[in-house]
Amino acid sequence: MEDKKELRKRILNIRNNMDIEDVRKNSSAITEKIVNSDIYRQSNVVFIYMDFKNEVMTSQLIKHMLSAKKRVAIPYTDTVNTVLIPSEITGEADLVLSSLGYYEPKNVLPVYPEEIDLVIVPGVVFDKSLNRIGFGKGYYDRILNKLKPSAKKVAVAHEFQVLESIPNEEHDIKMDMLITEKGIWKGDTSSL
Ligand SMILES: Nc1ncnc2c1ncn2[C@@H]1O[C@H](COP(=O)(O)OP(=O)(O)OP(=O)(O)O)[C@@H](O)[C@H]1O
Ligand SMILES: [Mg+2]
Repeated sequence: MEDKKELRKRILNIRNNMDIEDVRKNSSAITEKIVNSDIYRQSNVVFIYMDFKNEVMTSQLIKHMLSAKKRVAIPYTDTVNTVLIPSEITGEADLVLSSLGYYEPKNVLPVYPEEIDLVIVPGVVFDKSLNRIGFGKGYYDRILNKLKPSAKKVAVAHEFQVLESIPNEEHDIKMDMLITEKGIWKGDTSSL
């Protein structure tokens, strides 16, 4: 079996070369599935990533959340302590483009992990048992293990990012649900 590093490289190579129209199309289909789900309807405080480099796009979803009066937090990357700080935003004016090419909060307004009831999780490779491989720094593993047990971890990905089975380690946090443009995989405790 390929190790995590090889899998990241192989799948990122495909994703980096995607046609932008396909990224948009997949993102719309995934957004549609999320906004029509019970998990989404029942959530009040959402932690959601800002996409870059052909990740499933989240801007439509964030707009929907804000107009549905949900509280929205996006990651502020604290590279010194290697942690993500969920930071509340209320609109585009609260965003600033980082040097790495993704949007970050202009001001850090922390939302405590215990307040969050839904996380939209990015990733590089997933499998049908809801395992996840990210960029390889452990940022998401470190924040996801601080959530309250009732919080839902919903990953989004393009279908080609989902493999039959991938390696996972003790510290890797499993998703509750995985959504692609083609389908949905659910864990034991989730209902959509
Ligand atoms: N909860 C944790 N506490 C401390 N270190 C952790 C934790 N989770 C992961 N790490 C460390 O982070 C490093 C990278 O982990 P891993 O390969 O799982 O990254 P990843 O899940 O692909 O990345 P990311 O979560 O940033 O998208 C590992 O060396 C691991 O020991
Ligand atoms: Mg991990």
